[in-house]
Amino acid sequence: MKNINQILILTLSIAFLFNCENKNKKGNSNTNDIIEQQVDSVLALMTLKEKVGQMNQFNGSWDLTGPASNVSNQEKLERLKNGEVGSMLNVLSVKATREAQKLVMDNSRLKIPLIIGYDVIHGYKTIFPVPLGESASWDLDIIKKSAEIAANEASAAGVNWTFSPMIDISRDARWGRIMESSGEDPFLTAKIGVAKVQGYQGGDLSKNNTIAACAKHFAGYGFAEAGRDYNTVNIGEYELHNTVLPPFKAVAEAGVATFMNSFNEIDGIPATGHKEIQRNVLKGDWNWDGFIVSDWGSIGEMITHGYAKDKKHAAEIAANAGSDMDMESYAYVGYLEELVNEGKVNITLIDNAVKRILRVKFRLGLFDDPYKYCNEEREKNEIYTEENQAFSREVAKKSIVLLKNENNILPLSKNIKNIAVIGPLADDKDTPIGNWRAKGGRDTAISLLEGIKNAVLPSAKVTYAKGCDIVINKEIGRTFLLPLKFANTDKSGFPAAVNTAKNADVVILAIGEVALQTGEGRSQTNIGFAGVQQDLLEVILKVNKNVVITLMNGRPMDISWASENVPSILECWQLGSQSGNAIADVLFGDYNPSGKLPVSFPHNVGQEPLYYNQKMTGRPFNPTHVTFSAYRDAPKTALYPFGYGLSYTTFEYKNLTLDKNEILADGEIKVSVDVINTGDRDGEEVVQLYIRDLVGSLTRPIKELKGFEKIMLKAGETKTINFTINGELLQFYTINKIWEVEPGDFELWVGGDSTTKLKSNFAVKE
Ligand code: NOJ
Repeated sequence: MKNINQILILTLSIAFLFNCENKNKKGNSNTNDIIEQQVDSVLALMTLKEKVGQMNQFNGSWDLTGPASNVSNQEKLERLKNGEVGSMLNVLSVKATREAQKLVMDNSRLKIPLIIGYDVIHGYKTIFPVPLGESASWDLDIIKKSAEIAANEASAAGVNWTFSPMIDISRDARWGRIMESSGEDPFLTAKIGVAKVQGYQGGDLSKNNTIAACAKHFAGYGFAEAGRDYNTVNIGEYELHNTVLPPFKAVAEAGVATFMNSFNEIDGIPATGHKEIQRNVLKGDWNWDGFIVSDWGSIGEMITHGYAKDKKHAAEIAANAGSDMDMESYAYVGYLEELVNEGKVNITLIDNAVKRILRVKFRLGLFDDPYKYCNEEREKNEIYTEENQAFSREVAKKSIVLLKNENNILPLSKNIKNIAVIGPLADDKDTPIGNWRAKGGRDTAISLLEGIKNAVLPSAKVTYAKGCDIVINKEIGRTFLLPLKFANTDKSGFPAAVNTAKNADVVILAIGEVALQTGEGRSQTNIGFAGVQQDLLEVILKVNKNVVITLMNGRPMDISWASENVPSILECWQLGSQSGNAIADVLFGDYNPSGKLPVSFPHNVGQEPLYYNQKMTGRPFNPTHVTFSAYRDAPKTALYPFGYGLSYTTFEYKNLTLDKNEILADGEIKVSVDVINTGDRDGEEVVQLYIRDLVGSLTRPIKELKGFEKIMLKAGETKTINFTINGELLQFYTINKIWEVEPGDFELWVGGDSTTKLKSNFAVKE
């Protein structure tokens, strides 16, 4: 009699041949049918232990992106050999991937390949701007392409799966992970999420240069109370559906291969154990067929939450709620078999989870070739190429936002004689690499100082002074898991900085946040300039008024004082490998800035969480009476609003026209507007469309982004931009707990930021 291995190989080979033949003849749905058959044929051969094994993910010993477990390498090794591991994360390099995969292939009974995941968040080794910065480009084509490049590099180094995109709506500048997000708006976040999924996964996951994407964190993680990471989330069901879930639905529809759930609880239920959102909404209503991985240790953390009494209980809750794969809790390998045997977890749920995992592995082509990502030649030739660097510069310059430019101090002439480049981040080659930098090396970015020197004529005098530092333990701080020490108050560098500033034609001042001030576990209550940066700014302004701040940061900062006192501010985020060159492109006018804020900048931290798409409240505002919703010591609106960003040219909007002012719920309105470049430079503008649903079965936001287009206009040129309003844009999750369009009156605005006043209206009739 044949042994199980031979049976498996036979089944798989038949399925494979069948697959190849049909792939050539017919389209995708057939491929899916074949994959389903293959999945079933493998599942039929699996023991319960092997099934549970597929639901288990271990960390490799190459990197650590969460608290270390006490499971020994020996135990991991044994489990790999026994087919008790379905996935590993943080296995880096072709060599390591090959070794891990080989252990499984050579030793396990069923030889089911591992899927190998890694946090490739804004590039693998060629680093792009941090996601919040890249989102400021509002340019879906470059965002998609940067994900494509990240996938190409990661796959060349053995990685099959990235834990990206993070599409958590992020309204709180204090939350360190805002830097990984696309900001505060569901519509923009959804578009960017889809572009990234398309970039990572390409049209075809079975290619060797595409990788599986992962939508995270499901759900509500960005709503942590007081912006403190991992903190409690209290969000109502309707707000969850209308604000948090839409980007997830969009990427599910776009075919994202996997989801990751989140650390937080939602109204008392930890997301990892949340049956309603995982099983009923995602896998049920949305009919999504990929698998959900837990976040690092989040199954076990349900014990700490006070939701599970022990690890076994946690495993039971998570499996029943629809968490398919356990990242680093060791709860599933420890207890799932027992739980099934005791009838506490139904075997059909286990089968369902395993099928989802196998499906993704088949889609990736791992069964055809478990070593498909193990190509040393690709690893040598396709990572950190000149071409990728050039593209990183493109993305970086398009992500810069011009916040202020009094008297057109920018762009600078390249004939400028004397430039002072000052500040703790001016010659910092590390900060622009940002947090979650994958294999982005320390100190590998082009610093601002280098970028400026590359750009100016040889006759220009470029002088540099650091002025001060931001943190005390910068070296230690670069190690992912260690806290930074705040703040460095040493002013001994001030005199040199003042001297440097004194005789310069212009001072370029690089201040803000070091790389690891944002990211996981990096929440802050102070979002101003840490340490003595503000003092440095003040002493410099005393000797030279021509100051341009190049702000580097991963969160919206409180820059109110600077905004009032400095003539020009460029928001430069943490722009990645080519940061300095990209900033210089903008400073000297080789590129006309076109970025727009994906998140509101507050007047001060007390306004957080701050977002443009708020609700009206019953008492919105009355300047002459106190019993209205306002702060008595600060405005309630943003210092720089969502969607805002200047250019070296100016744009005017006129002739806002709607082809009709009434439609039925399934109707359409064509909206058009003329955009004119009224300045004397060519430039790009992001034309934005907002609506307001005036009365609803639930209260509606005062404005909601529902369309945007990034256009290029030559100096003096006019373009007519068209949008279509339809039911898909007008619907929301109503009191009936379904998505529907409610008849009634709507307002509509078009313009260059969320405060635009160019307005019209229309109605949806019964
Ligand atoms: C924890 C983070 O929350 C998640 O985003 C990340 O993907 C995992 N750790 C793995 O590193």
